[in-house]
Amino acid sequence: MPLLEVENLGHRFADGSWGIRNVSFALEQGGFTVLTGRNGSGKTILVKHLNGLLKPTEGRVLLDGKPVQSDLLAARTRVGLVFQNPYAQVIQETVREDAAFGPENLGLPPEESERRVREALSETGLTGLEERYTGILSGGEIKRLALAGVIAMEPEIIIFDEPFAGLDYPGMKQCIAMLTALKTGGKTLIVITHHHEKLTRLADRMLIMNQGRLAEDGRPEAVLARAEAYGVAGIGVQW
Ligand SMILES: Nc1ncnc2c1ncn2[C@@H]1O[C@H](COP(=O)(O)OP(=O)(O)OP(=O)(O)O)[C@@H](O)[C@H]1O
Ligand SMILES: [Mg+2]
Repeated sequence: MPLLEVENLGHRFADGSWGIRNVSFALEQGGFTVLTGRNGSGKTILVKHLNGLLKPTEGRVLLDGKPVQSDLLAARTRVGLVFQNPYAQVIQETVREDAAFGPENLGLPPEESERRVREALSETGLTGLEERYTGILSGGEIKRLALAGVIAMEPEIIIFDEPFAGLDYPGMKQCIAMLTALKTGGKTLIVITHHHEKLTRLADRMLIMNQGRLAEDGRPEAVLARAEAYGVAGIGVQW
C-alpha cells in the first residue's frame, strides 16, 4: 500500500472556479518528489489537501489507506507542511517559543521538546537567535524559523512550499544539506520549487502541475524532457 495516495482530487473555490481537478498520484515511503509548474498552476492548493488543511470538493487523500479528513490530528502530525508564506506560520513572540509550539502541543516531555527545538534551530542556522522577537526577524530568518517549527515536529512526510525563496547562498546550501539529511534519514519529501535544477541529485520523482491538472508524473529526467511545454525549464536550458 502506498504511504500517501491522492485520488481524483478536485478543489472548487467559493467563486465557483476550480483550483485543481482530477489529480491522482501515489507516493511510496522514503521518496523525494519535486513538484513544479507555472505560477498559479495549483501546487499550493494541492499540497494543502495532503495534511487536511483544505477539504476536497471531489476525490480524496489517503494516508496509509485512511482518508486524511477522517483523522485530521494524525494527518497534521504525520504530514508537515512548510508554508510558502512564513508569516502565515510563525505566530509566537520569540524564536524559541515559535519553534517549540508544535512539539509542546504534541504533549512531549519538556526535555524531548527542548532537544527537538535545539536541533531544529541548529539545522536551520538559527542557533543564537533563540530569544529574538519574531516580529523583527529578516525575511530569510523567518523563512528558516517556519522550517524549524515543522522539522521540530518530526513528521514522516514533509512538504516544503518554495523553501529556497528569499534565502541567501549559505541559506540555500544549508537548506539543501538539510533536505539531503532528511532523505537519508528515511523521510518522505515533497519540495515545491521553481528551482528544480538545485535538486537534481536528490529527486527521484517529478510532478508538473498545469492549469490545475497534473500534467506530468515520472522520473525527473523523463519529465524534464517535456517540461518546457508547461513553462518549466528543461535540462541544460540557458536563460
Ligand atoms: N480562494 C480562492 N478563490 C479563487 N481562486 C483562488 C483562491 N485561492 C487560490 N486561487 C487561485 O488558484 C490558483 C492556484 O493557486 P496556487 O496557490 O495553488 O498556485 P501555485 O501553483 O502554488 O503558484 P505559485 O508558483 O505562484 O506559488 C491561482 O490562480 C490562485 O489565484
Ligand atoms: Mg504556491
